[in-house]
Amino acid sequence: MRMAGARLDCKLNLCMTVFLVLPMFSNGASVGVNWGTMANHKLPPKKVVQMMRENGFGKVKLFEADEQILGALTGTEIEVMVGIPNNMLKQMSEDPGAAASWVDANVTSYCHNGGLIIRYVAVGNEPFLNSYNGTYLQSTLPALKNVQNALNHAGIGSQVKATVPFNADIYNSPESNPVPSAGDFRPEIRDLTIEIAHFLHSNDAPFTINIYPFLSLYGNNDFPVDYAFFDGSNKPIRDGDHTYTNVFDANFDTLVWSLTKAGYPDMKIIVGESGWPTDGDKNANTQNAKRFNQGLVRKALSGRGTPARKGLIDVYLFSIIDENAKSIAPGSFERHWGIFEFDGKPKYEIDLSGLQGNKGLFAVEAVRYMHKRWCVLNPHVKDLKDLQRGIDYACSLSDCTALGYGSSCNHLSVQGNASYAFNMYYQFMDQNSWSCDFSGLAVVTDEDPSEDQCRFPVMIAHGSSEKLLHRTAFHILLFFLEGFVVLVLLGCVGIMAVIPHRRPAF
Ligand SMILES: *[C@@H]1O[C@H](CO)[C@@H](O)[C@H](O)[C@H]1NC(C)=O
Ligand SMILES: *[C@@H]1O[C@H](CO)[C@@H](O)[C@H](O)[C@H]1NC(C)=O
Ligand SMILES: *[C@@H]1O[C@H](CO)[C@@H](O)[C@H](O)[C@H]1NC(C)=O
Repeated sequence: MRMAGARLDCKLNLCMTVFLVLPMFSNGASVGVNWGTMANHKLPPKKVVQMMRENGFGKVKLFEADEQILGALTGTEIEVMVGIPNNMLKQMSEDPGAAASWVDANVTSYCHNGGLIIRYVAVGNEPFLNSYNGTYLQSTLPALKNVQNALNHAGIGSQVKATVPFNADIYNSPESNPVPSAGDFRPEIRDLTIEIAHFLHSNDAPFTINIYPFLSLYGNNDFPVDYAFFDGSNKPIRDGDHTYTNVFDANFDTLVWSLTKAGYPDMKIIVGESGWPTDGDKNANTQNAKRFNQGLVRKALSGRGTPARKGLIDVYLFSIIDENAKSIAPGSFERHWGIFEFDGKPKYEIDLSGLQGNKGLFAVEAVRYMHKRWCVLNPHVKDLKDLQRGIDYACSLSDCTALGYGSSCNHLSVQGNASYAFNMYYQFMDQNSWSCDFSGLAVVTDEDPSEDQCRFPVMIAHGSSEKLLHRTAFHILLFFLEGFVVLVLLGCVGIMAVIPHRRPAF
């Protein structure tokens, strides 16, 4: 094997880091979480990482190699799956050099002592999704091979595995016999998927699948609601010796059977995404999201597994924080998958240890907001003929998913809709005064127009000092100086006071 000295170092250090960190999670079991960043007005990554650590998220899955996020995760015990977006697959498949530079810039450069614990590279994201019409069929496997080869050449191939997160629409069971044991990969992609499974298996890499019981319910009014959750009481479905009480197990086991039929009964499986949204649909609310996610965490960490596959389930919840700029082509709920609000406040209690507690979550600390002001419909205007045009314009450039059918603000009047839309646009535009006009229809107010269920957000402020901290030595110096000043001010007796005594937000 050709290995440069520096790269061998990287491998050894990575090994040591993994070795030192593992004892922190007693049985290696903790849940992971996805972190997508399609949002306007984002929290500083350092604050999010701190919150993740306080809450005990042991693993994170990223959709691309965001420099700031990787920087914020550096030096922590959180294991990382870093993603290559679909639009890079073609180049990666045709040019091994492109895969090698990507690995060099986005993986190898972070593996050093005190660096990042990268465990997986996700090559593409649901590339065989039905609605992509086959766009990525040809490029996925060659890209996967080139990326894994690049990892091997860098000397880190035994620690960092390339995988492909697939949507669960790559397999199904016949309508005539809808049980897991009758399942298989979709005929038109079956051979290709099995080739990928073969490559992953030969490389000791996992098969990654995204499973969404919420979507079973969303797409089908006849779907038994209880069957989407883990504590339902509907009639179990029998499949030979196995009994199914929830669709997650049935879906997971359909994959187990599909892999078994392909000759890989022992293939390691990661659930790359699963979760429940809290708005944007009649079934999307905090009660259902808590019920599903808590059930999933307990199941995953209990070791009971599914009827066809016993043991812990390696799962990454979707997702950490709402993404208010995500495409809503699949539905308005797409912007509401977060366990946390846009500002890092937990939406509901959930115990991530998988025990039977009702523990709360820690919120992101010291969030800076823009001024407490909102843009609403001017109550004194009489001529409302341009109102709908204003609403449409504001919504097209912001996020009005809370207004739709089944959503938290669906009960608003036309006037309420206008205020909501104007405010979202105003917040997205950094509360610029020119953004609250709408031909004289809008006016800025200090009075919060929110109601119980329908919240008019004030977004977080850009440019928090946190962002700059890791950039320069100057800032590091400032950081220590600040710490020193604080200590001096507090004096000896005050030292204990700087150790945070955090309480959950509930
Ligand atoms: C590293 O990842 C980032 C983010 O996905 C991407 O923009 C960049 O091109 C990658 N670097 C290389 C050398 O491919
Ligand atoms: C797939 O095909 C459908 C119908 O022909 C089309 O509407 C859609 O835009 C296509 N999607 C992609 C990603 O090419
Ligand atoms: C408010 O906007 C939503 C989303 O566009 C729409 O479904 C609803 O009918 C509107 N309400 C009124 C009273 O016009």
